[in-house]
Amino acid sequence: MIEMVRVSKAYEDNPNALFDITLRVEKGQFIYLRGSNGAGKTTLFKLLYAEERPTAGEIWVNGFEVARLKPRKIPFLRRTLGLVFQDLKLLPRRTAVENIAFALEVLGAKRGEVAKKAAQALRWVGLERRGNCLPSQLSAGEQQRLAIARAVVNDPVLLLADEPTGNLSITAAEEIIRLFEKINLRGTTVVLATHNEGLVAAWPKEKIVLEQGKLLEALAPPLLAGG
Ligand SMILES: Nc1ncnc2c1ncn2[C@@H]1O[C@H](COP(=O)(O)OP(=O)(O)O)[C@@H](O)[C@H]1O
Ligand SMILES: [Mg+2]
Repeated sequence: MIEMVRVSKAYEDNPNALFDITLRVEKGQFIYLRGSNGAGKTTLFKLLYAEERPTAGEIWVNGFEVARLKPRKIPFLRRTLGLVFQDLKLLPRRTAVENIAFALEVLGAKRGEVAKKAAQALRWVGLERRGNCLPSQLSAGEQQRLAIARAVVNDPVLLLADEPTGNLSITAAEEIIRLFEKINLRGTTVVLATHNEGLVAAWPKEKIVLEQGKLLEALAPPLLAGG
């Protein structure tokens, strides 16, 4: 599912954005990637979906050897992934339903399927009545749920969600966690990046902990050597 072996990522102004990371996430897991701001969570995700290349090390995601993936193969990797970005990346001039439809069209879905699947996804996150709203007309929690609907509409094998409860009340955060649990029950592996220790304490799950680019803790039983 995910395997990283001795992965490092250096930026010009941060030589150790990630340093010597070895970890494995198995199919079906729901796991937190925890770490304070700047720990390297978003960078780690970018390596996994081939937005950035590692400076060293090997990465496999859903059978793709990501660190060496040719640019023209990247769309095939991305088709197996659901991505919830830290900054959401919703299209501001498109309605909620259009945001989802656009993601489907990019992936080459058939015309007839797009509307049906988009409506289903909206219903699934409880936004069926908000489909014609622009993102700016939605609350923070609704925007987050829209980003999740877009990420799961194609039934990804692996969902990477970056700080999906970042700016939300505890009630809205709980709704989001419940959604991810539902996705996980459908068989999608979920990795949820968060700096929020309260969240991790309230809804405990297996976790990977990053600190200043280094792996501090990988408590999930199947992780690391001998696991
Ligand atoms: N594109 C980039 N260029 C230079 N430095 C970066 C870049 N992206 C991230 N960094 C640095 O890498 C470190 C980890 O950042 P990030 O992965 O965003 O952490 P987190 O998501 O855990 O808050 C930080 O020190 C950040 O400043
Ligand atoms: Mg981040």
